[in-house]
Amino acid sequence: MPTLRSATANASSVAVGTPSPAAASTPRSVKRRLTPGRAGELPAASRHTSPHRSPHAGTGTVCMPKLLSASPKSSRKRLYGDLVAAEKPKWNPRDAAQMRAVKEALHVATVPSSELVCRDNELRRVLEFCKASVEQEKAGSLYVCGCPGTGKTLSINKIKDSLVCWADEMGMETPDSLAINCTNLANTSEIFGKILGKFQNRKKGSSKLSPLQQLQSMFSSKDSAPRRMMLVIVDEMDYLITRDRAVLHDLFMLTTCAFSRCILIGIANAIDLADRFLPKLESLNCKPLVVTFRAYSKDQISDIVKHRLKGLEYDVFEPLALEFCARKVAAASGDMRKALGVCRSAVEVLEARLQDSPDQELGIVTFDHMDIALSKAFKSAVIDSILCLPQHQQMVLCALANTFQHCKKKATTLGELNKSYIEICRSTQVPAVGMLEFSNMCMVLSDQGFMKLGQSKEDKLRRVTLQIDSSDITFAFKGNRFFQKCLEQPRC
Ligand SMILES: Nc1ncnc2c1ncn2[C@@H]1O[C@H](COP(=O)(O)OP(=O)(O)O)[C@@H](O)[C@H]1O
Ligand SMILES: [Mg+2]
Repeated sequence: MPTLRSATANASSVAVGTPSPAAASTPRSVKRRLTPGRAGELPAASRHTSPHRSPHAGTGTVCMPKLLSASPKSSRKRLYGDLVAAEKPKWNPRDAAQMRAVKEALHVATVPSSELVCRDNELRRVLEFCKASVEQEKAGSLYVCGCPGTGKTLSINKIKDSLVCWADEMGMETPDSLAINCTNLANTSEIFGKILGKFQNRKKGSSKLSPLQQLQSMFSSKDSAPRRMMLVIVDEMDYLITRDRAVLHDLFMLTTCAFSRCILIGIANAIDLADRFLPKLESLNCKPLVVTFRAYSKDQISDIVKHRLKGLEYDVFEPLALEFCARKVAAASGDMRKALGVCRSAVEVLEARLQDSPDQELGIVTFDHMDIALSKAFKSAVIDSILCLPQHQQMVLCALANTFQHCKKKATTLGELNKSYIEICRSTQVPAVGMLEFSNMCMVLSDQGFMKLGQSKEDKLRRVTLQIDSSDITFAFKGNRFFQKCLEQPRC
């Protein structure tokens, strides 16, 4: 299988000569050879660049409409299908340029160049709203909320570009835009100064009025109101929350002035912010359109990562490894930033392994690499506290994990748990503590919130339920031989 370099070399050689089977097997190199001289010539060109035919590629005269009509759609489709199904060239993680490209594609700061995936609905709603405002030259407000890492900032920035393109295409005056990140403001009311500065083209007036008052008076008369619409994006709006929420109210109320030209998009992470300030806005007759960005699901996380890596010619992750990451992140938060961080970290694990053993065969990111990256990322507070417990209490937790995870029980009794604990002590050759001490240990674990102990006259009959996820226990002891033995499948 060719490496990226050899595949690229082949691709460029076929552009001026005969295609080699290796080059024909890489979709990207094929795509390059298929690039027609003029729009609309793609099908003819594709026919002539089939690896099974003598190509005219590179001659610049590949368009032959006759042959195009002679080529039935189905056979063209089959040809494409064959080429796409062909195996990709292997990634060479030791190649610095390739490694850089992978890390860059996975970097949170890298804005995907193509269209955004998994946010179609949200993008459509926001864009439609903005288009209507521009068309009707009518101010309006939108409130975008969702947990961190759900693509709010990225999506709204894309909207800004799409709106300008659309207005341009429609022959309308393109709206001006201003993006403010509230984390950069020295104080909450500075926001009005920023907006005013943009409307006044940064010329500072000598008015005695506050920036907010100037904006209000500007938008209240036809003569002073600006002509051009302005898209004002206020990101990280959570920072504008004051006790009376006056700044937020004043900000949104700017869109209700008779001659306002603002299309205001406020973006916040706090889901409940809407409940806290929307009722008041509603009573002031200024209810923004609310668009909620839900946490990404497992499939969406996986799709986004794949989409970001689409430009690369090679596979970076084993499918199972990527799925593992997507599943974990979706279950924890659905935060794309976290998912990208874990993926990059897994790439670094592979990189470190290759550096440690130069003879190791090249490979892609596997389940094991991902497992390590996830462990680093999700070393949670619960896991930390499990790791800080005394050894016998940790063994009780193993007994609990065995009962609830392996034996799939929902509850047990202190007596049964004690038997399971003694079994573990026997298998690891650690002397077990007596029943009274065991019962005390369980009370300590109960006080710390690891488990719940019911009431009963007889200690042994007290009901025991687990209060943490049993997978946290197995996760905490991963890689520890002693505890792996404690967690071996018991007889249920
Ligand atoms: N749909 C998506 N496609 C590609 N990358 C995404 C997508 N959603 C989020 N990301 C990535 O996750 C990062 C965090 O997204 P961001 O828009 O900043 O989230 P939020 O503003 O909701 O906290 C972005 O920088 C981007 O790299
Ligand atoms: Mg953001």
